[in-house]
Amino acid sequence: MVIFGASGDLTKRKLIPALFNLRRSGLLPDNFAVLGVARQELSDEELRQRVDDDLTACDEPDDPKCRSWLLERVYYLSGDIGQREVYDRLATRVGELDAQYKTEGNHLYYLATAPKLFAAVVQHLGAVGLAAEADGHWRRVIIEKPFGRDLESARELNQHLAKVLGERQTYRIDHYLGKETVQNIMAFRFGNGIFEPVWNRRYIDHVQITASEEVGVELRGGYYDESGAMRDMVPNHLFQLISLTAMEPPTSFDANAVRDEQTKVLRAIAPYTPEEVLRRSVRGQYGEGTVRGVHRDAYRGEPNVPPASTTETFVALKLYLDNWRWADVPFFLRTGKSMTRRETHISIQFRQPPLMLFRDTPVEHLQPNRLVIHIQPDEAISLSFGAKIPGPQLRLGTVDMRFAYKDYFGERPSTGYERLLYDCMTGDATLFQRSDMVEAGWAVVAPILDVWKALPPRDFPNYEAGSWGPRDADELMSRNGRAWYHTPDKK
Ligand code: BG6
Repeated sequence: MVIFGASGDLTKRKLIPALFNLRRSGLLPDNFAVLGVARQELSDEELRQRVDDDLTACDEPDDPKCRSWLLERVYYLSGDIGQREVYDRLATRVGELDAQYKTEGNHLYYLATAPKLFAAVVQHLGAVGLAAEADGHWRRVIIEKPFGRDLESARELNQHLAKVLGERQTYRIDHYLGKETVQNIMAFRFGNGIFEPVWNRRYIDHVQITASEEVGVELRGGYYDESGAMRDMVPNHLFQLISLTAMEPPTSFDANAVRDEQTKVLRAIAPYTPEEVLRRSVRGQYGEGTVRGVHRDAYRGEPNVPPASTTETFVALKLYLDNWRWADVPFFLRTGKSMTRRETHISIQFRQPPLMLFRDTPVEHLQPNRLVIHIQPDEAISLSFGAKIPGPQLRLGTVDMRFAYKDYFGERPSTGYERLLYDCMTGDATLFQRSDMVEAGWAVVAPILDVWKALPPRDFPNYEAGSWGPRDADELMSRNGRAWYHTPDKK
């Protein structure tokens, strides 16, 4: 495994701990080595020392045998990865490691670098013959988002990659798909007989997807101010959740069969007219406030953020899917920084039953049933329904049936990257984004971004740090008598 950008944060926080966990679970063979590449001058020994420190700092339980196994096989090559010269040295070094570790020439290249370098790295790998698959070995490249910043740049990037790599060799990672509960959406829908029959417009009133974060932009102001909440979270993470929730059953779990169905969902999202952008999208930016009892500066006061920035840190959208299963069922999405609580969930709200049977009882309204797939911080699935409150009168209360992952399966150490790295090494691309999915995602958000750009917001900041976002987001729901779902406050 060659990691470009080996001195960066991703390598330290996710990739190294994930490799360590994979080995501990018996999923990494002895014929394996890691070669880090970055600009900094370091020796193999110095990189090993860093990796050792990173493993000490991460939350994973220690395992000295596994730690020394990994440290022994970490190597380093320094150089400017934008320059061709590095790749000649890389080819020699990788060739030596192939021989030493008997890897049979199978290479995984991880691009943990700035996105502007993706095309150049792949082009150089191609030029020195490191990307070509021949003699039965494989060469695969993992790329981290952002995959472009709009439809045009995404297409351009895809074209650059395609000059060197087959789609089969290209693994666009979305770390949301590394989360167990996200992977479980398909198992839940298609591995059970009782949910699929009601999973459609006849029974479902609407779907909500929330990914609220407590964190602000921290030290990522430079990146984030160029990106904003929409580009950072929507066409990638949230669209993955929508497509898994709304897709038709694939013909098999084959990577392309699953991704074909996901792509169809994204293509079915009804395009926004400019007028609909104004009615069905909400953007926000946080002002100062208090998050979990701690004062938070306004977004405009964060490091590397211009003081008059108009970048959004919150988005809410109302979408419709133009297909038979979902016609007229609204999908509401929302995500934001510096909000009340960190929670990611998908809430499926069912239609209300008719009230007439209860006409002569104290019951004035019925609560709709709600199925919630809780993704974080708790991994769970809950179903709410009405039950009779004990007593002589017919009164109804809402109760919850809840399955928590940890109660059944315990807690397993995971950075979320283990499964994705493993799948890439074994050639399973199901949990990775294909080029057409990426482009379909950008095509949906493009008209919204265009209108937003043409009409800069005048009311920013429009929500307080530590709140649930701008009032307009609540109105987006309440206009039709609906409300955002929040997990109940913990007592
Ligand atoms: C990243 C975004 O892709 O996902 C971040 O760039 C965001 O801004 C993060 O905080 C959220 O991931 P998670 O796993 O914490 O929900």
